[in-house]
Amino acid sequence: MENLLGFSSFDDMFRKLSENPAKLSVVLGLIYLTGLLCVSSIPYVYWQFFERKKHQAAVAKGQAKSAEAVQLTANASAQQPSSGMPTPEQTFQLMRTRRTIFPRDFSEERVSRQEVERMLEAANWAPTHGRSEPWRYVVLGQDGMQAFANATLEAIDRQDIDPEVARKQRGKIEKKRDNDMLKTSFMIVFGMKRQALPEKRMPEWEEIAATSCAAQNLMLMGTAMNIIGYWSSWSEVAKDDIGVKKFLGLTEEDQCLGVYYLGRSQSVGQYRNARGLCSEKVTWM
Ligand SMILES: Cc1cc2nc3c(=O)[nH]c(=O)nc-3n(C[C@H](O)[C@H](O)[C@H](O)COP(=O)(O)O)c2cc1C
Ligand SMILES: *[C@@H]1O[C@H](CO)[C@@H](O)[C@H](O)[C@H]1NC(C)=O
Ligand SMILES: *[C@@H]1O[C@H](CO)[C@@H](O)[C@H](O)[C@H]1NC(C)=O
Repeated sequence: MENLLGFSSFDDMFRKLSENPAKLSVVLGLIYLTGLLCVSSIPYVYWQFFERKKHQAAVAKGQAKSAEAVQLTANASAQQPSSGMPTPEQTFQLMRTRRTIFPRDFSEERVSRQEVERMLEAANWAPTHGRSEPWRYVVLGQDGMQAFANATLEAIDRQDIDPEVARKQRGKIEKKRDNDMLKTSFMIVFGMKRQALPEKRMPEWEEIAATSCAAQNLMLMGTAMNIIGYWSSWSEVAKDDIGVKKFLGLTEEDQCLGVYYLGRSQSVGQYRNARGLCSEKVTWM
């Protein structure tokens, strides 16, 4: 039987190789190369072995980590008053149900201080760049509202404006004072603290945006509690007046972002509102 190298037996091989140095060197060369291949692969085999071990360790650690994450989430939700989230449908329904209702349609039924506090707690969870939490609230009861109206009227009188414009402004606030305010359980003045943290000065628009996010939280929480309201700009000429700001505990660079009249109403559901198409306000790129 002849193999590839042309030997019929070991004896034949030894004999032929000893007679033929060229063939001998080819065979020796092949043996050498095979050995070299084996030896040189040892580090690779070792490397593969340790890589596999490392990978297995990483997988085990990852599983432990995700188990911990699940545990953390479970613990966090256990601390929340209600364990379940509202469904997307309920959430969307809540947002669509929130509606501006004007004080003329407020009912006699009053909102309690505890309910307002709950709404303010919800507001306090708004996002905020730099954790400045710039929202500041002044909650006005009946006396507070009257005093605020008075401070606003005084501010209008101080403005260096056309007397006719001032007279109209006065009239609007007096009307609010003598009608709307009397029907309102509480008025929440939305304040924006320009620099809530001494070491951090964020862009002004971000503080206004954060305060507005808080306002939306507050209104949605109210909607869920059957409390309605009306966000009003208040007196455009007076709200930037330093006297009004002082009255509200704000400083010159802080801002009043309007007021929110709070109440209850039988007219919920009768105030309808439509929106333009969402898709027309969106660009996908
Ligand atoms: C910043 C801000 C200021 C507002 N100021 C006034 C206002 O001065 N007078 C007014 O009638 N409505 C005011 N609104 C309420 C809008 O009229 C109301 O949101 C809009 O008609 C949409 O109705 P909806 O809130 O029921 O969806 C204000 C709303 C926002 C967000
Ligand atoms: C979660 O709470 C349990 C029981 O209160 C506690 O044993 C566990 O350590 C907590 N886990 C984390 C990740 O905080
Ligand atoms: C507001 O002004 C009116 C009229 O000047 C006054 O009668 C009333 O006492 C004032 N109210 C408050 C709370 O300051």
